[in-house]
Amino acid sequence: MYIDTVFTPLELVSRGDISDKTVVVIDVLRATTTIAYALSWCSRIIPVETIEEALSLFQTFDKNETLLAGERFCLKPEGFDLGNSPGDFTQDKILGKTIIFSTTNGTRTLKLAQSAKLVTTAAFVNASACASKVFKAKNDVIILCAGRSNKATKEDSACAGLIIELLIEKCVEDNVDFELSDAADISVKYFNYYKDDIAALLESAEAGKNLIEVNLEKDIKDCSLIDTLPIATEYKDGFIRSVK
Ligand code: MLT
Repeated sequence: MYIDTVFTPLELVSRGDISDKTVVVIDVLRATTTIAYALSWCSRIIPVETIEEALSLFQTFDKNETLLAGERFCLKPEGFDLGNSPGDFTQDKILGKTIIFSTTNGTRTLKLAQSAKLVTTAAFVNASACASKVFKAKNDVIILCAGRSNKATKEDSACAGLIIELLIEKCVEDNVDFELSDAADISVKYFNYYKDDIAALLESAEAGKNLIEVNLEKDIKDCSLIDTLPIATEYKDGFIRSVK
């Protein structure tokens, strides 16, 4: 199993054909964390790139069964039901619903990964569930960090390192050969540097500082927890769902 980290979406093109690979999309603050929280209760998520696309797609769905969620500049767009705060995706609001979801970097990055054999999402909160799903597929793996505006971020790079550590553990246990790219090795070392205080890492990140500025520091705590959600996901045929 060859395991690689791609620190920014723009860099993905340098990896060429991804059709035989598993791609794990990470946007810790906050899209892929929110996806894990949401899929604890909702039936499926439809990631879309633009607000306009989200609003027009919403018109084609049953309004009683569907919600619009996402953010621009950290905040809920006008006309949306929910923003992108993981803690807002509670059972009473989203049980069984379809969520049309548009965020600045996360949902765009997911779209870039669409041609992979398996596309999944990860965050600190569902790291182990994601790693189990990825390991079972036995494909070569690209961990694709959403970053911010095509720049690498601390939080996604560190979470990539955690997922890789978990994959290495499984490879060792099951005698599966593995090889890390230089980028994968960097992300593992980076995770280990910060692993005892993920909340501090998130607070010191640019996206974390932006959330603090708009009084969303609670989101940082919700995004910093490790393995609180046993949710593995798959993005297939336009929908992200929780999978075994
Ligand atoms: C993104 O997709 O860029 C993030 O989810 C941004 C945010 O949550 O504020």
